[in-house]
Amino acid sequence: MKQFILFICLLVVFPCSITARDPTQRALMKHLAQAANKRGLISNETFISTMFQTFRSHHPRRYRALDNETERYQIFQNRLKAAIESTIETNLTFTYGLNKYSDWPPHELQVLRGTRPPPPTTETHYVTMTFSRTKQTKSSNKKQRKEPSQSSTTTPATLTSTTSATFTTTTPATDVYTVPDTFDYTTRVSALNTNVSIIRPIRDQGYCGSCYAFAIITLFEAQYAFHYGQAANMSDQQIIDCSTGDYGCRGGYFDKSFAYVQGYNWYLNSALKYPYRANASTCAAKTTDGWSVGNSVYRHITPKNVTDMQEALVTYSPLWISLYVGSDCSGSAKSSCPVDPTVASKIMAKFQGYTSGVFKIDGCITSASNNNHAMVIVGYGHDLELGLDYWKLRNSWGPEWGEDGYVRIQRGVNMCNVESDAFFIAKPAP
Ligand SMILES: *[C@@H]1O[C@H](CO)[C@@H](O)[C@H](O)[C@H]1NC(C)=O
Ligand SMILES: *[C@@H]1O[C@H](CO)[C@@H](O)[C@H](O)[C@H]1NC(C)=O
Ligand SMILES: *[C@@H]1O[C@H](CO)[C@@H](O)[C@H](O)[C@H]1NC(C)=O
Ligand SMILES: *[C@@H]1O[C@H](CO)[C@@H](O)[C@H](O)[C@H]1NC(C)=O
Ligand SMILES: *[C@@H]1O[C@H](CO)[C@@H](O)[C@H](O)[C@H]1NC(C)=O
Ligand SMILES: *[C@@H]1O[C@H](CO)[C@@H](O)[C@H](O)[C@H]1NC(C)=O
Ligand SMILES: *[C@@H]1O[C@H](CO)[C@@H](O)[C@H](O)[C@H]1NC(C)=O
Repeated sequence: MKQFILFICLLVVFPCSITARDPTQRALMKHLAQAANKRGLISNETFISTMFQTFRSHHPRRYRALDNETERYQIFQNRLKAAIESTIETNLTFTYGLNKYSDWPPHELQVLRGTRPPPPTTETHYVTMTFSRTKQTKSSNKKQRKEPSQSSTTTPATLTSTTSATFTTTTPATDVYTVPDTFDYTTRVSALNTNVSIIRPIRDQGYCGSCYAFAIITLFEAQYAFHYGQAANMSDQQIIDCSTGDYGCRGGYFDKSFAYVQGYNWYLNSALKYPYRANASTCAAKTTDGWSVGNSVYRHITPKNVTDMQEALVTYSPLWISLYVGSDCSGSAKSSCPVDPTVASKIMAKFQGYTSGVFKIDGCITSASNNNHAMVIVGYGHDLELGLDYWKLRNSWGPEWGEDGYVRIQRGVNMCNVESDAFFIAKPAP
């Protein structure tokens, strides 16, 4: 009997739980479903204030100094209005709504945008994927991961090629390599131990610009699952505290974090022993309490080569990418705004509130030096309903954000620079 009831509940609840894991958003969806005049709610002060109380009950404010409740309420009100609009509009490719960020002013959201433009002197290690290609049938989803040849184990510091680092060419160049139509690391397990997922549960970077650290740790954890068949919960905090080329909670770079791990003999601490604190402090890494990920190399994919990105993903590892997710261009930041300031704030609000669908927004393309957020591409596919190709990306804003912590972004058009700055780890076989 119990099972029967549960089954009924699941059937009823399922459509809702897909769109909203965040409790405030769920409450909003429930109100909207019952409202005769949805748009009328936008100007209903009683409703807005009720929703704010709901929001507060789920996100009790850890108010920082000089906080202003009136300002928070106004911000929440605007985001609530946008969330209602999002459900009324019928031609959107993605929806956005309420979440824990719904009362954060732009300058706080800016803190979450934590990568930095490439330093001018940094070598880019761009590669074209001329590594081993094998004939594949188009629908094959069983592509085995390849290891680069030993000759390609040069560390990035000595890799000078900018256009064509050869991995292995064991098959004739004429062979056609076809990637599967869809691919998703989140549903995959280690070939060495089917109990071990390649991708660990979604994390939350909190109020700290540490996306770059979460992204690279995701890649190392995946490597560990591939090569050792073990689930390793590795320390994001170690990167934040110890990678001196990065900026702690104020952003960082793939190559600097990678260089740190290499310099620490590839040793990453356990996240349980070196837990996340969302705050940078003195390095406390130990050469015990963790795992050695072993010698690794990385590659930086030539910008905008979508096929290369798909091949690298399927063949080697999830991809660390940076992109532009809007920015706070108010005040003095206006003159240096990478896009039109109103567009910048629109992108910022919609990306922050993203709840589902394929993210696609006008006016987003900027120069790669304006990329300001790092995430991990874990898969790709095609949304039949929307008729859009997409990348699936793992964010570090908690599991309530987006589609269970993930976001799908339009693929093939360099949407928000998502195809401009992709790195992957190509680790030789142990
Ligand atoms: C405004 O919202 C409140 C609370 O949701 C509701 O009880 C009331 O009927 C609404 N008023 C109007 C005019 O729709
Ligand atoms: C709080 O913000 C509101 C709206 O921006 C402003 O009018 C008010 O003066 C602020 N109060 C304080 C104490 O800063
Ligand atoms: C949806 O349609 C409305 C009205 O035609 C238009 O103003 C709006 O820009 C469209 N939105 C998108 C995302 O295309
Ligand atoms: C992407 O790189 C491959 C080689 O890996 C090359 O054959 C192809 O022409 C490139 N595509 C674009 C759009 O540059
Ligand atoms: C996988 O999990 C099952 C059930 O917990 C266990 O019996 C089995 O030994 C595990 N396999 C490996 C390789 O750890
Ligand atoms: C991984 O480590 C974090 C601490 O950073 C901890 O909160 C989390 O529960 C750990 N996850 C697992 C599955 O052990
Ligand atoms: C973060 O670290 C700084 C400097 O180490 C310290 O002053 C601050 O209190 C810390 N904040 C939190 C929330 O731990």
